Amino acid sequence: MTRIAVVGSINMDLVTVSARFPAPGETLLGERFLSVPGGKGANQAVAAARLGAEVTLVGALGDDSLGTQLRDGLHDEGIDTTHVARLDDCASGTASISVAGGENQIVVVPAANARVTPAQVEAAHAAIGAADVVLVQMEIPLETVEATLRLGQRLQVPVILNPAPAQPLPLAWLKLARYVTPNQLELATLLGADPAEDFRALMRHAPCPVVLTRGAEGAWYREQGEPVHQPGFSVEAVDSTGAGDTFNAALAVFLHEGLPVAVRKACAAAALAVTRLGARSGMPSKDELDRQLTRSSA
Ligand code: RIB
Repeated sequence: MTRIAVVGSINMDLVTVSARFPAPGETLLGERFLSVPGGKGANQAVAAARLGAEVTLVGALGDDSLGTQLRDGLHDEGIDTTHVARLDDCASGTASISVAGGENQIVVVPAANARVTPAQVEAAHAAIGAADVVLVQMEIPLETVEATLRLGQRLQVPVILNPAPAQPLPLAWLKLARYVTPNQLELATLLGADPAEDFRALMRHAPCPVVLTRGAEGAWYREQGEPVHQPGFSVEAVDSTGAGDTFNAALAVFLHEGLPVAVRKACAAAALAVTRLGARSGMPSKDELDRQLTRSSA
């Protein structure tokens, strides 16, 4: 069984669905509200577990009722939460998510996630050292992201850095990752480039192997320095929240099958993820993913 360690955020997602996004200063009547577990780290952990991996999560929750619900949800998915801290006098992370026409807008309040420390990563070194792949994103302090990259290198465990949400990083850190998985805006932010610049040129200049996500268009990766396109799988999009998390999880779980296969499976898994409302409701099981791969020629 593939073992995955995830270092990242855990949020409760407060989701509203409306026909369109409100303009600044405007109040809209929405269609639906739901409160569902999310957070990039926890989502990636859940997606990897559903695909059959044994998963450990390193993160933090507050001592509030949301923290209890979020922790119970992780247990229900079979995730090892030994390294998820419960912090006194602290709120759990939340994300206010507006969904309209299959697209989303998200405001994250990190709360406990802002207190995931490098010491916690070090304390989890046995679980990280035993992993086949480590996943880390950027909804936790950047010093903790750096500590994860450095520990992965020290223990010789490949780390996939999902640089979301977009923030500039020292280029030297990127070289510590086995793969960096930005979308176009995130890649431009990392490289201090104009987001309008051709992403293939940016990929060629990146100081690390990049797997670039392009939403419905699929993904790009480099082979012998040149960008290669994996087309997306055609589905009816309901909510894109969690698609990137599902992509990263599948990439990590199937990396041992080689990059082209892992990227194709990641695109298929991400496509399934957008077919349901809420970050995790569309995340596929291994069987659902296999059926999608057989159905489609992408
Ligand atoms: O990637 C999707 C996630 O981003 C949501 O679940 C939300 O919590 C934000 O962290």
